[in-house]
Amino acid sequence: TKDGHSSFMAKEIHEQPEAVRRTLSGRLGSDGAVSLGELGISDKALARIQKIVIVACGTASYGGQIAKYALERWCRIPVEVDLAHEFRYRSPLVDDRTLVIAISQSGETMDTLMAVRYAREQGATVLAICNTVGATIPREADGVLYTHAGPEVAVASTKAFLTQVTATLLLALYLAQMRGSGDPTEISAAARELAGIPGRVQSVLAGAGQIEALAASMADVTSVLFIGRHVGHPVAMEGALKLKELAYIHAEGFAAGELKHGPIALIEPGQAVVVIMPSPAASPVLHAKMMSTIQEIKARGGRVIAVGEEGDAATTADALLTVPASSPLLAPLLTAIPLQLFAASLAGAKGLDIDQPRNLAKSVTVE
Ligand code: M6R
Repeated sequence: TKDGHSSFMAKEIHEQPEAVRRTLSGRLGSDGAVSLGELGISDKALARIQKIVIVACGTASYGGQIAKYALERWCRIPVEVDLAHEFRYRSPLVDDRTLVIAISQSGETMDTLMAVRYAREQGATVLAICNTVGATIPREADGVLYTHAGPEVAVASTKAFLTQVTATLLLALYLAQMRGSGDPTEISAAARELAGIPGRVQSVLAGAGQIEALAASMADVTSVLFIGRHVGHPVAMEGALKLKELAYIHAEGFAAGELKHGPIALIEPGQAVVVIMPSPAASPVLHAKMMSTIQEIKARGGRVIAVGEEGDAATTADALLTVPASSPLLAPLLTAIPLQLFAASLAGAKGLDIDQPRNLAKSVTVE
């Protein structure tokens, strides 16, 4: 049931603090030590890994792109992220020292399943990050890390995404602790911060009313651009995907640094641009660059909606959707939420069925 919410999607968005808590449960000690006892892949096998390839589709692939930043920084292992349907058609370099991570909410996505089969044929070790216990992908993989988000009914992925990101951060912390890689101070601080994320997710949800009002004022927009840097780039792509699938509005997510290499030609008076702000304290250089990007957009008449930390000086934006402060690699767990609310509210303002958008199925079981 919808538990009093207007849609399953609204319910699932509001379940996110609890869903993330379940992903962390029993895996993150009060001392910051991560244990993934149920993984099914030995530490010995994980210690031999020289390369990681993440395969996934849609929202799960954006989760994978976020994971790349944490895995490379903390574990010092090169990471590639491939759309699962592209993976096996490009002669990928995969061998018995490659860990292939397949991320899938349903565990039944055919494109991702075929990538898993191909990877195992090449001798890779395959780890599934999955929400559905006992689904085909985790059954065929060597090991699995379940997200335990609970059933996700709405076609648009929300709590599954947040818990996928949480699970990959746990995995990155685990590998770093086991292999002794990365900066130990940063890693233990990140582990402690992760434990407090559910509460911060809850506080972002408290801003839903402001976002609904903003969306109601934008029901007639025909195009929205989303830009971000660092992990804000995959968050921007996720925000654009949500808007396309729910509100049927043309949307594009791209790296903010690319703007001047072409897309800035799209900026004309009234063009809406959602900007995922880097943290001013944790990423001052990227924050300053994003401030000048906002100026570029404003100078051409664009309408800027910033998603940024409380107190961010980016108030040159036309609207600021706030999230609590966080370290850079954990920020997507917060910045993705206003974008979910924005897409759902815009779809609602247009009178659309947000649980069952046209042309889409919850689980894509054909290649
Ligand atoms: O079940 P999966 O995680 O493998 O599904 C992957 C994509 O089909 C899925 O994330 C899709 O992009 C969502 N509808 C996005 O909201």
